[in-house]
Amino acid sequence: VSPARVRVRRARPADAAAIHALVADYAEQGLLLPRTEDEIRAHADHFLVATQRKKLLGCVALKPYGAALAEIRSLAVAPEARGNGLGARLLRFALAKARRSGFARVFAVTHAAEFFAQQGFTITRRHLIPEKIARDCHGCPKERTCKLIALVATVNSQRHPLTVLEECATIT
Ligand SMILES: CC(C)(COP(=O)(O)OP(=O)(O)OC[C@H]1O[C@@H](n2cnc3c(N)ncnc32)[C@H](O)[C@@H]1OP(=O)(O)O)[C@@H](O)C(=O)NCCC(=O)NCCS
Repeated sequence: VSPARVRVRRARPADAAAIHALVADYAEQGLLLPRTEDEIRAHADHFLVATQRKKLLGCVALKPYGAALAEIRSLAVAPEARGNGLGARLLRFALAKARRSGFARVFAVTHAAEFFAQQGFTITRRHLIPEKIARDCHGCPKERTCKLIALVATVNSQRHPLTVLEECATIT
């Protein structure tokens, strides 16, 4: 992998199979929530992908929760491409997409809290993101033992989501 040759672009429905394979490997290790290929294809417009010579090396999705809040999810870099700055680059592109789309804040619920903190996110309490808990956590077999950490970042400081969130860092 040569980082300079890696291109980040919006995903197309035709990328769904490769995105699914990448996410499924990490989901099996318990690092990401599983997504079906159909779900990914139907929401391909939520995803950005990193490719080199047509090979998928990474992905990230931005899922809206109303008009002001979005979730960064399914952030994954292929094992052979990790440690080259690609995860940070995908996250920066996703934050730029969030800013352009007019969201006020983004959040992530993740095992890689240090990674997100290093990129400017602030750790928050999960109950401050009730929409996420209602959608993905209720009924999950790991609900009580879950070790995932929630983090938030402001991308448009002039806008405020309806959800009450603690003050958090602004990423410019
Ligand atoms: C997390 C992940 C996306 C990072 O991608 P990456 O391309 O390897 O990361 P980068 O090379 O951009 O790393 C940027 C920095 O974060 C650090 N970092 C990378 N992964 C980390 C992790 N899991 N925890 C803490 N820090 C991490 C790196 O050491 C690097 O620090 P440096 O700039 O001081 O050297 C990748 O490891 C991955 O796909 N993990 C499995 C899936 C996952 O956990 N996704 C996140 C949940 S949404």
